[in-house]
Amino acid sequence: MSKKQVRIGMVGYKFMGKAHSHAFRDIPFFFDTDVVPVLQAIAGRDEQGVKQAAEKMGWASYETDWRRLIERDDIDVIDIVTPNNTHAEIAIAAAKAGKHIICEKPLALTLEQSLQMLEAVKEAGVVHMICHNYRFAPAVQFAKKLIEQGRLGKIYHIRATFLQDWLMDPNFPLIWRLKKEVSGSGTHGDLGAHIIDLARFLVGEFSEVVGMMETFIKERPLGDMDIHLKGRIESGQWGEVDVDDASAFLARFENGALGVFEVTRFSRGNRAGNRFEINGEKGSIRWDMENMNNLQVYLEDDERGLQGFRTINCTEVEHPYAAAYWPAGHIIGYEHTFINLLVEMMNGIANGYSPAPNFEDGVRNQVVLEAVERSVQTGTWIKISELLKQPQLQV
Ligand SMILES: NC(=O)c1ccc[n+]([C@@H]2O[C@H](COP(=O)([O-])OP(=O)(O)OC[C@H]3O[C@@H](n4cnc5c(N)ncnc54)[C@H](O)[C@@H]3O)[C@@H](O)[C@H]2O)c1
Repeated sequence: MSKKQVRIGMVGYKFMGKAHSHAFRDIPFFFDTDVVPVLQAIAGRDEQGVKQAAEKMGWASYETDWRRLIERDDIDVIDIVTPNNTHAEIAIAAAKAGKHIICEKPLALTLEQSLQMLEAVKEAGVVHMICHNYRFAPAVQFAKKLIEQGRLGKIYHIRATFLQDWLMDPNFPLIWRLKKEVSGSGTHGDLGAHIIDLARFLVGEFSEVVGMMETFIKERPLGDMDIHLKGRIESGQWGEVDVDDASAFLARFENGALGVFEVTRFSRGNRAGNRFEINGEKGSIRWDMENMNNLQVYLEDDERGLQGFRTINCTEVEHPYAAAYWPAGHIIGYEHTFINLLVEMMNGIANGYSPAPNFEDGVRNQVVLEAVERSVQTGTWIKISELLKQPQLQV
């Protein structure tokens, strides 16, 4: 008997559009899910561009207005892979139309907007997820398992970074990621959202934060970039950069752990330095996205003299998601984090629940982002509970 098809409508088709399209196509190839995704339609504003993208990435049809995609009754899921300022409007309209939703991170521009999105999906009773893909690296899932099994004991520290260097040229153009009205914030919401999610996944909920931010280059020429981060200057005009180039913060967690977080696009030599180290009473773990199949593990219980960080290549059938792919030692890559996440979305749709990370995780992430921003403005520690205290902001 053929499986139930879940018809996807994707808005946007560039960097994340490519990652999501590829992942949807690979799901039935590697996984035996109860429902299978079908690449039904994509939407973009430029007809020639969206038509070409549909052909290249294997979508059956296209629209030049996302609203039309939402109106179509041959679409079950709306996938939002557009800049951050569009997420709320598209997600709320999609929820009202009864579509399931997968939305890219950060969920919204503000905490308040993210709460409106959460309310909309809850009211509509649709399945929802946010695309925090890094927690779906098998090594990160395995780290979670070790922590849950108590192998590290009580957690004392997490230190996490996401370091990049592609913005250091002062003549690099003023792309949408550098405009507050489109992106909400700079490195903070873009890269910070990822390491906040990893910390929430592995350590627990944040209780208070204190931060700092800097914009090193305050004006840039107008322009755009391609997915390989190659800038293209469009005119002789310049504009103001009104978001952070770098952001750092300290945190306390509800379980007593301490966190140190740093994100930047000015860290020479670091291309995608998404790394964390977690220290517990009985052991430590380290992960580095650029070496994403490996997890470094130190266990205090090891015999003295043999103690030290060991490198576990998380490609054995015992490791989460690994059995779907290749024999042990045959590594997977960045794109597989999206496949694993969207497999969970298919399971959620088949069984009527919203797998984590969902819009509630998106809101809990957004509150940390907003608390750090407030801390930078006030120069003080900000308690997460203070931000969530206002009745309209309760999760
Ligand atoms: N999960 C991750 O690792 C990850 C990585 C990169 C980006 N992102 C997130 O994904 C989203 C998209 O980022 P990207 O890097 O793919 O951006 P991008 O600039 O590569 O692509 C954006 C796409 O949205 C389209 N678009 C822009 N405004 C639109 C509108 N009003 N209506 C319809 N289409 C519109 C553009 O034409 C383009 O196709 C952002 O929210 C970003 O934060 C997530």
